[in-house]
Parts: sequence; structure tokens; C-alpha cells
Amino acid sequence: MSGIEELIKEVKRLKKEKNAIILGHNYMEYGVQLVSDFTGDSYDLAVKAMRTNADIIVFAGVHFMAEQASALNPDKKVLTPDPEAGCSLSDALDVKTLKKFKEEYPRAPVVLYINTSIYVKALADYIVTSSTAVKIVNKIDSDVILFGPDANLANYVEKKTGKKLIKVPPNGRCIVHANYTRKMVEIVRKEHPNALLLAHPEAPQEIIESADFVGSTNQMIEFSRKISSNEFIVATELGMINALQIQVPGKTFHPFVTMERCACARCPYMAMITLDKVKRSLEEEVFEVKVPRDVADKAKEAFERTIKALQE
Ligand code: 13P
Ligand code: SF4
Repeated sequence: MSGIEELIKEVKRLKKEKNAIILGHNYMEYGVQLVSDFTGDSYDLAVKAMRTNADIIVFAGVHFMAEQASALNPDKKVLTPDPEAGCSLSDALDVKTLKKFKEEYPRAPVVLYINTSIYVKALADYIVTSSTAVKIVNKIDSDVILFGPDANLANYVEKKTGKKLIKVPPNGRCIVHANYTRKMVEIVRKEHPNALLLAHPEAPQEIIESADFVGSTNQMIEFSRKISSNEFIVATELGMINALQIQVPGKTFHPFVTMERCACARCPYMAMITLDKVKRSLEEEVFEVKVPRDVADKAKEAFERTIKALQE
């Protein structure tokens, strides 16, 4: 048995022994996706976290995701394999800045991307993801809406809904997608002329405009599974290729950029979550993510309001 196979076997044994589940984001490295009970996008995993009977949740994703899972499950033990795994978008908006915007626009509903700290989320009316932002903004009956922290997602939502959003802050960006350029599109289109281009809404407008499909990581899986085309270029974080290869076998997926062309290809935070660290997390029950109850309750309320609005 190879080292990785042994590691996978041990992680599976530990999961059983501790009645634990692993929730893995679609950007995770291959081995982490293999041991995950559920893989998905940020919305999907947040809902899965809410519905589990497990005693322990190991969140194989970045910190704001584990925080969200902990806020939704205050009585469960939620673990992150690496507490340093942050997110540039989450860093882009703090409580003080959001409070200032709220004072300036006291009647404006606050719609926040899930890529925010739980303390910031506690000040939101709605918590959206790339798969739900357009639907929620469409439902809000207000001319003034505060939306943050991803300016690219805000631009995309504005285009899709025809509504004007006030960006909080004006220029929050994901350090992966923000580096994508039109030149990169030209190069990759030339290399794979028959492939469809899938793009994440965190990408700049010029990429969105040239894409054949725009959606969250789960929506990319669904789209490539259903459509008859067999070849795709994937304009999002490099780990997504793992999810697509596992879940849509028999089709070909090319990265939009590789690490040789741009260090931005892989999210440095997502890359911190390795199979070794997932095993240690389960074994030693580290690192627990705890959220103060009052903060968790407020964030949970905003998330539940969002789910309710999506079902209406
Ligand atoms: P989704 O998986 O929700 O599309 O989000 C991508 C992302 O960047 C998470 O950090
Ligand atoms: Fe944050 Fe971008 Fe990394 Fe996602 S890919 S965790 S948005 S920095």
C-alpha cells in the first residue's frame, strides 16, 4: 500500500471511530477530496454542516467556512486543519468599515458574500454565495443595497439584476481570480480551441464577458456534466480540476492558468489544507473553531433568512 493510500485508510478509520465527517471544498487537493464525506461549494457545504448528525466536523476549506459551520452548529466540535488558512476577500472587510457604511446608509439592506469573518456576517441581513447572490439581490425590494466584499461579484450581480450596488469596500478582490486577464483568455483559447470556457463570478468582467458559462464551483460541475461538450477550460482556482475530474469522469478539463504561468493559479490558503493536516486534525481534535454565541446567533439568523428567501 502506498503512503497516500495508508493515509486515506487511516483518515477513514478515524472518521468512523469519532463519528466525524469531513466537509471538503471543491478546491481541495485530490487526496482531501477522496476522504471527504461531502465536497461542494460554499453554499452547499454550509447547508451540509447544518444538517449533519456527526459529533465532529472537520472543515477542509478556509477559515471563514469553518467559522460559518461552527456558528450553525454551536453544539458540535468544528475543526480546521490549519487556522492560518485565511482568505483575501475575508480580510478585505472588517466590522469597523461595515459599521461606517451602515451609518451612512441606515436603511440599506446589507448583503454579504459568505467570504467574510463571522463578526462581519453578524451585521448582515443576507449572506450569499456565488450561486445565490443574483437570486437574493433580485428579491430585495430596495434601491440602495450594500454589497461586499467582492467587487467583481458585485459587478456581475449588477449586470445580471440591473440593480446598483454600493460596494463595501469599493475594491475587495480574491487574490486568485483578480489576476485573470484578457491576454490569458486569448492564450488558453488558442491552445484549446474546442473547449468551453467556465468562469467563476469572482473573476474580472473581461473574463466573465468571454466565458461560455459563469457560475459557482458546484454550478460548473452541474453544467459540464449536463452539456454534450467534452472539453472545458476552467477559470477558477486550480484545485477545481480535481473536483471536476472526480465528479465528471470521461471529460477533459484544462486549467485557465497553471502555476508555471502565474502563482495566482492556486489559492495559497486553500493549499494549506493537506491530507496530513486533515489526519492530524481528526487524530488530535485540533484546531477547534469557536464563535461567541451572540455573534453566532446573529450570523445564523442572516443565513436562515437567506435560505428562506431562496425557497420563496
Ligand atoms: P464557491 O465554491 O462557492 O463557488 O466559492 C469559491 C471560493 O472562492 C471560495 O473561497
Ligand atoms: Fe479567498 Fe480567493 Fe482563496 Fe477563495 S480562492 S479562499 S476567495 S483567496
